[in-house]
Amino acid sequence: MTGGICIMDPCNMGKVEQFLSEFLLKKEELKEVMKRMQHEMDRGLRLETHDKASVKMLPTYVRSTPEGSEVGDFLALDLGGTNFRVMLVKVGEDEQRGWKVETKHQMYSIPEDAMTGTAEMVRTRPELFDYIAECISDFLTKHNLKHKKLPLGFTFSFPVRHEDIDKGILLNWTKGFKASGAEGNNVVGLLRDAIKRRGDFQMDVVAMVNDTVATMISCYYEDHSCEVGMIVGTGCNVCYMEEMHTVELVEGEEGRMCVNTEWGAFGDNGELDEFRLEYDRLVDEMSLNPGQQLYEKLISGKYMGELVRLVLLKLVNEDLLFNGEASDLLKTKGSFETCFVSQVESDSGDRKQIYNILTSLGLLPSEFDCDVVRLVCESVSTRAAHMCGAGLAGVINRMRERRSQEALKITVGVDGSVYKLHPCFKDRFHEIVRDLAPHCDIAFIQSEEGSGRGAALISAVACKMAACMLAQ
Ligand code: BGC
Repeated sequence: MTGGICIMDPCNMGKVEQFLSEFLLKKEELKEVMKRMQHEMDRGLRLETHDKASVKMLPTYVRSTPEGSEVGDFLALDLGGTNFRVMLVKVGEDEQRGWKVETKHQMYSIPEDAMTGTAEMVRTRPELFDYIAECISDFLTKHNLKHKKLPLGFTFSFPVRHEDIDKGILLNWTKGFKASGAEGNNVVGLLRDAIKRRGDFQMDVVAMVNDTVATMISCYYEDHSCEVGMIVGTGCNVCYMEEMHTVELVEGEEGRMCVNTEWGAFGDNGELDEFRLEYDRLVDEMSLNPGQQLYEKLISGKYMGELVRLVLLKLVNEDLLFNGEASDLLKTKGSFETCFVSQVESDSGDRKQIYNILTSLGLLPSEFDCDVVRLVCESVSTRAAHMCGAGLAGVINRMRERRSQEALKITVGVDGSVYKLHPCFKDRFHEIVRDLAPHCDIAFIQSEEGSGRGAALISAVACKMAACMLAQ
């Protein structure tokens, strides 16, 4: 402070703001992030540089050529967050586009030991893929479907190197999964083996897709300009339709193929070093995958609440919050949940909501404390929206350049709890994307149940192709 009289709170608020200013990113810095993202995307696409690139740009074998789709019942599985879902989807066709009706679905929570245990069966515990097979069996029994051999589409929301639409190896787990015996293996094979081990039902696994891809596909049926799929939830990722001739990992020049960018790993080669703060380093060190998914760790819901908690502790240590004293709960890892960030920022101004959250954490906050906590949440979530926006602008600008279009009209299909449930994330995010991609006309649509519906729709296409091949 520069002299004069000051009552305590305004002075401290100034100090708090000073602390939080490191979360503010200037437009020039965001442009730099965008440029580096594009550079890594290019490296990921090229054969020569692919292995070293942090952004892997994985081909999905989902192509732009319309093959039409089979009609009928499909089973869809969705694994990627804290829950596992099984759905029965009816796919039909009308003149212009395929249509689908979700008929039944069920959610199963994933036990901690299945998430972090072994992927192969051991005698004592149901491990991840056996647990999945057990859930499918339960679903089929409940809906009296056990006698049917249904085609199955699997939304598997982790980095997979595909060899075809129904074959691909898991590169590495993300988002707190750690089941051993899966990395480096064909995921569809693990699922088929687990089903075989049970022997009480049969399934025809026809397609495996990332959740970004499932989201894009499900939105494409509503809007044919949808050529980008994005998730900002527990994890964060984007896929988009890339020109085949630039996808060097797959032969062929014609048309487009959907590329799963796996941009969550951006930064793993140091590209984000000067933007990462001490809180980001701590979150990373305490995670199950240190040094990996560094861009995702700045943005996604798996980490946002924890980042806020670490900033709050820092402010307590500096005597700027809660009278310099944190509760035991606030000192506990994971206690400030990401949904609290949304709730704090949804507070109408009377601080009630903020007060309730803080008291539930064993604190006795003053009005000033409530205001500081809100500021911290805003700082962390705004940085996330801006970082994510810089990445998406990079993708969309690249698409426009490749298509040599003066103005690109594009729709982005989006899903994920941070995007959907946070009160301001999407507005801040849209604004930055549009600002950084000025020659593009961008629409955003939210997908509903995209993971399951997308998996079923792509399976219907895959079945059609398989049927055609058999007929030849
Ligand atoms: C995974 C991606 C996934 C994203 C969103 C990331 O951790 O690596 O494959 O699309 O989370 O679920």
